[in-house]
Amino acid sequence: MKRVSFVQTVPIFGEVERNLMRVERLLPRDSDLVVLPELFNTGYLLLNKEELLKLAEPIDGITGRFLAKFSKEHGTSIVAGLPEKSKNGIYNSAMVIDETGDLVGVYRKTHLFGREKLLFRPGDTGFRVFNLSGMRVGVLICFDWIFPEASRVLALDGAEVLAHPANLVLPYAQSAMLTRSIENRVFTVTANRSGEDDRCVEKLEFTGASQITSPDMRILVRAPERGEYVGTAEIDPRDARNKKITEQNDLWMDRRPEFYGRIMRR
Ligand code: ACM
Repeated sequence: MKRVSFVQTVPIFGEVERNLMRVERLLPRDSDLVVLPELFNTGYLLLNKEELLKLAEPIDGITGRFLAKFSKEHGTSIVAGLPEKSKNGIYNSAMVIDETGDLVGVYRKTHLFGREKLLFRPGDTGFRVFNLSGMRVGVLICFDWIFPEASRVLALDGAEVLAHPANLVLPYAQSAMLTRSIENRVFTVTANRSGEDDRCVEKLEFTGASQITSPDMRILVRAPERGEYVGTAEIDPRDARNKKITEQNDLWMDRRPEFYGRIMRR
């Protein structure tokens, strides 16, 4: 059995060090995998590229080093969202750290939401599955949820758990992720934030209700809509390898990809 957790945060916009200190107090010490929200270190509502440039960090910056240290000390794998400064530009990314504290990769958000399109480069990593604490973990970021192809590709590539850092503003994803769970028979861990980013000229409110769902479409734990919260579930990742829905139906064996070609075209 494995312990998987989300940390639901209420960040203060632009206050990276304070946000990291707060997260340090919240992080569970006994989990195999912890998922943190999208852009958890900075807050979400960036007004322009100048702000983004100031707040973005390389993967091995202060945020990456802080999480790697925690991971190494506690033997915890971590998936966490941040604005990633790379030599090609700035991406809305999730860093992936294994249970030894090694930064094993990054996922760059494929489907940018709203004004993110004006700020970030579209992700170029594709969907990736990582070996973390003896689990196969695929990564999505927030709005990727609305494209079932994203979860499907990860599940077909062997993901048992979908780690889903989020800053959700629409009210649909929590229900939709239950569907992603049953249609792929995988666990999902959505780490959402709560509270609001009030930037005077614009304000956004986030929906909280972070959750962990199971391959048989159950909510194993769900946070309240408001406030910080740490949710943990004990899971057996092997449950996600069984794709049987009935005695006669196996999700993978029953697929008819010869009829799905339309999905590959615009
Ligand atoms: C979102 O993708 N942050 C809604």
